Amino acid sequence: RALSILTEFEEKCGTPSSKLKQVADAMTVEMHAGLASEGGSKLKMIISYVDNLPTGDEKGLFYALDLGGTNFRVLRVHLGGKESRVVKQEFEEVSIPPHLMTGSSDELFDYIASALAKFVATESDSQHVSPGRQRELGFTFSFPVRQTSISSGTLIKWTKGFAVEDTVGQDVVGELTKAIERAGLDMRVAALVNDTVGTLAGGRYNNPDVAAAVILGTGTNAAYVERAHAIPKWHGLLPKSGEMVINMEWGNFRSSHLPLTEYDQALDAGSLNPGEQIFEKMISGMYLGEIVRRVLCKMAEEAAIFGDAVPPKLKIPFILRTPHTSAMHHDTSPDLKVVATKLKDILEVEYISNTSLKLRKLIVEVCDIVATRGARLSAAGIVGILKKLGRDTVKDGEKQKSAVALDGGLYEHYTKFRTCMENTLWELLGEEASENIAVEHSMDGSGIGAALLAASHSQYIEVEE
Ligand code: BG6
Ligand code: GLC
Repeated sequence: RALSILTEFEEKCGTPSSKLKQVADAMTVEMHAGLASEGGSKLKMIISYVDNLPTGDEKGLFYALDLGGTNFRVLRVHLGGKESRVVKQEFEEVSIPPHLMTGSSDELFDYIASALAKFVATESDSQHVSPGRQRELGFTFSFPVRQTSISSGTLIKWTKGFAVEDTVGQDVVGELTKAIERAGLDMRVAALVNDTVGTLAGGRYNNPDVAAAVILGTGTNAAYVERAHAIPKWHGLLPKSGEMVINMEWGNFRSSHLPLTEYDQALDAGSLNPGEQIFEKMISGMYLGEIVRRVLCKMAEEAAIFGDAVPPKLKIPFILRTPHTSAMHHDTSPDLKVVATKLKDILEVEYISNTSLKLRKLIVEVCDIVATRGARLSAAGIVGILKKLGRDTVKDGEKQKSAVALDGGLYEHYTKFRTCMENTLWELLGEEASENIAVEHSMDGSGIGAALLAASHSQYIEVEE
C-alpha cells in the first residue's frame, strides 16, 4: 500500500520536458499580461523604479538592512569606486522572534530599528559618514510591495511566515523611518528593494552579463531587466537607460500545467495565505519539508509505515523542515543512518523497532520526488524569463552571453536541488543556447546590491556630480 501511495505521488509530480516547456511558455505569457496592466495577471510584475544598475563608480559608506529571508541582517558597506570596489563589508545576523512575525507593525519595526541602532553604534571613527551628512540605508524588504518611488512603497500582502496585519497597505519605508526615529537614529532610507532586485544589482556589479536574478530560499522569486517600452502599464517618463528592473513576484504564478497534488492542495488550504503563492509552495524552502511530512503522514495513516499508531509528532505541521529532508536526501551511508536519526530526533520514531531499511529508502524517495519537482519547476521559470528576453535560443549564431544570479538557502545548501535545477535548465535550453547562459551564485548579493542602490540614489549625489 505504501508503494502504491508513492507511485501515485510520483506520477502526479511528474515534470517531463514537454510539461516544463508548457510551464515556461505559460510563464512568458503571464509576464506579458502582468506588464500590460495592473491586475492583468497573477504575476504582479512590479516596477521597481530601478532603471540604472550599479556601474562600479559608487562611493561612500552605506548601510543595508535585509528583511525577509531566514534571518534578518544589517550590513555596513564601504564602497570605494571603480578602483577599489567594495572595500569593506561587515554584517550582523539576527533572527526574528516568531511572535513578531504575526504581531504588530510597530513591534516588528521597532525590533529591526533597535538592531540597526546597535549595529550603527559599533562604527569605528574611520567609518563615520562625512561630517554634516546623514547616514543612508538600502532597505531590502522581501515581500510584494507596490513601489511608488525608488524609496517608498506600500505592502500588498505578506508571504512566507509573516502575517502582521496592520502593515498591509502601509508604506514600509514610512514604518521603518518612524521606528528609526523612535530608536534615536539619524538615518535616511535611500532605496527600497526586493531581495531579487538587490541580488540583480549585486550580481551586475560583479558581472555585466547579469540580466536576471532568482531567489531560491524560504520563498522564491525572480527579477530581470526589461526594456522600458515593453512595459505598457508604465506611464512615467522613459528612463534614460531605456531599461527598468521588474520584480516578478513569481511565487504567485499559477498555471493548469503545474503538477499539483492533493498534498499541495491541503498544504495551501491550511496555510497563512490560502490560494496564494502556489508556485512558491511547490518550490521553496519553507514548504518542501512540509510536503514530505504530509506524504509520510498519509503513508502512516493508510499503510501503517510506522506501525499501528501514527507518530504524534508527524501530525504537527511544519515540524519537518527542508534542512531535515535535505539531510535525509543526501544520506549516503549504506544503512541510511541520517534518515534514522532524523526520524528519531524529529518525529520520535524509534530506529530499530519501526524503521526498516526499506522504509528509510522509501522516505528518501519521497524527499527526492518533492525536491526534483521543485528544482525542475524553478528551471522552467528561468526558461520563461529567458524566452521573454529572447535569450532562450541562439539567433544567427549570436554569442550574446546572459547570466542569472542566484541566491537563497535552498540554492546554497541543498546540493541535489541545485544540481537538478541547473541540469534541467541545460536540458530545456539545449546545448547551443546553454553555451550563452551562465548561472552564478551571488552570495549576499542582495545586501550589497541594496547598499549600491542606496549609493546611486543618495541625496548627496547631485552635489558631487
Ligand atoms: C540571502 C539574501 O542570501 O538570501 C537575502 O541576501 C534573501 O536577501 C535570502 O532574502 C533568501 O534566502 P533564505 O534561505 O534566507 O530565505
Ligand atoms: C516571497 C516574497 C518575495 C521574495 C521571495 C524570496 O516570494 O513575496 O518578495 O522575493 O519570497 O525571498
